[in-house]
Amino acid sequence: MRRSSRRCWIHDPTTMLRLCIGAAAAALGLRRCARPRASSVCEDRQVSATTDRPALPLLVLGAGTDLHTERGVECPGELPPASDPDLVARARAAKAALGDSVFVLGHHYQRDEVIEFADTTGDSFKLAKEAAARPDAAYIVFCGVHFMAESADILTSETQTVVLPDLAAGCSMADMAAIEQVEDCWDELVELGLAERVVPVTYMNSSAAIKAFTGRHGGTICTSSNAKTALTWALDQKSKVLFLPDQHLGRNTYVRDLGGALDGCVVWDPHRPMGGLTRAQLEAATMILWRGHCSVHGRFSVEAVEAARRDIPGVKVIVHPECRHEVVELADEVGSTEKIIATIAAAPPGTQWAVGTELNLVRRLAARFPEQGIAFLEKNVCYCSTMNRIDLPHLVWALESLAAGRVVNPIHVDPDVAHHARVALDQMLALPGETHKD
Ligand code: 13P
Ligand code: SF4
Repeated sequence: MRRSSRRCWIHDPTTMLRLCIGAAAAALGLRRCARPRASSVCEDRQVSATTDRPALPLLVLGAGTDLHTERGVECPGELPPASDPDLVARARAAKAALGDSVFVLGHHYQRDEVIEFADTTGDSFKLAKEAAARPDAAYIVFCGVHFMAESADILTSETQTVVLPDLAAGCSMADMAAIEQVEDCWDELVELGLAERVVPVTYMNSSAAIKAFTGRHGGTICTSSNAKTALTWALDQKSKVLFLPDQHLGRNTYVRDLGGALDGCVVWDPHRPMGGLTRAQLEAATMILWRGHCSVHGRFSVEAVEAARRDIPGVKVIVHPECRHEVVELADEVGSTEKIIATIAAAPPGTQWAVGTELNLVRRLAARFPEQGIAFLEKNVCYCSTMNRIDLPHLVWALESLAAGRVVNPIHVDPDVAHHARVALDQMLALPGETHKD
């Protein structure tokens, strides 16, 4: 039975003219509502070819809100103006007043002005672990995106509260897989008699509901640093993997790290019946890849790699595995955010690097390692617009509110969802070999 028909049409990406203009959208003040499954801008304009549902009327920016879609606008409180020259002093004072009761986590892709106030920085899973390792902190202020704050909530105790300074900080990749679509996909695999041969493997960059689906169906979560271990484990259990939601991480790991064949991968399009695939294709496939991608990493191109090699003598190209397969194939090194940092830190001085990951991190790498030559790989890629939603005014607002005894923007995952999501997260921690558990 297909569940998608029961979904609210405004949350169905096939019906939405998806406005995608990366950081430009943030610069224009395009904001989204504070709904639990935060959606985000993405780079592809998608209009359904198969739906007769009405198109959304355009919302004139600044002329109203639409709290049922990603075009909602308002922060639920009084944000200090970005021009306030006292913002740094205010952040310091609020943090000092809160003392050990607050712990501020900063993802590597956050702005400098926010990283300045982070008690620790890291990738998504390292930050969730850091949150869990701070049971004395009543408040975890998560400077990252919504799915990360959810994971932190799942992994922290009931007495701790996770705060996301701007609820509009979603992730376009995570939003490319809605739980109803994933349940539909599974139902179709059951009807085809294939589900019993399939293990779900879900990237950390996904909603808590999809992590819970993974736990219910005997699968595991993975991160970009342990995807190889996770896939190896999954293919020891059963003969096929449903990889959610990033097709590129799934394909790159299977082909590059496990030596699998490219034609062992098929892409499940949630907007088409049976994913747009035939029974024969699904029967033959080892990897059923969800049709999702990162709006930032998906833009690094083969041309940019070729240009870097042409223009920078001796350059080494290092990219994140969320990049497209042809880019990853051309790169010298491929790795998670943490691996990119560690590789550049360990390289001999004077090494030339062209780095294909989010721009905030690459700029900080260039500042931190002046002995290396560090270039941003692609001239047409900008910051992650949703990561950049968390700015100093939002951080000051969240910290000052906490200092005044008001908890703003708490992230609470439903207990049943959290339970099953935790099963999948614990399965990841139990994986053999290299994981984040150490
Ligand atoms: P990591 O945090 O696992 O490096 O993932 C990269 C990313 O795109 C986060 O949104
Ligand atoms: Fe999502 Fe990509 Fe931004 Fe990470 S960098 S939050 S995967 S859109």
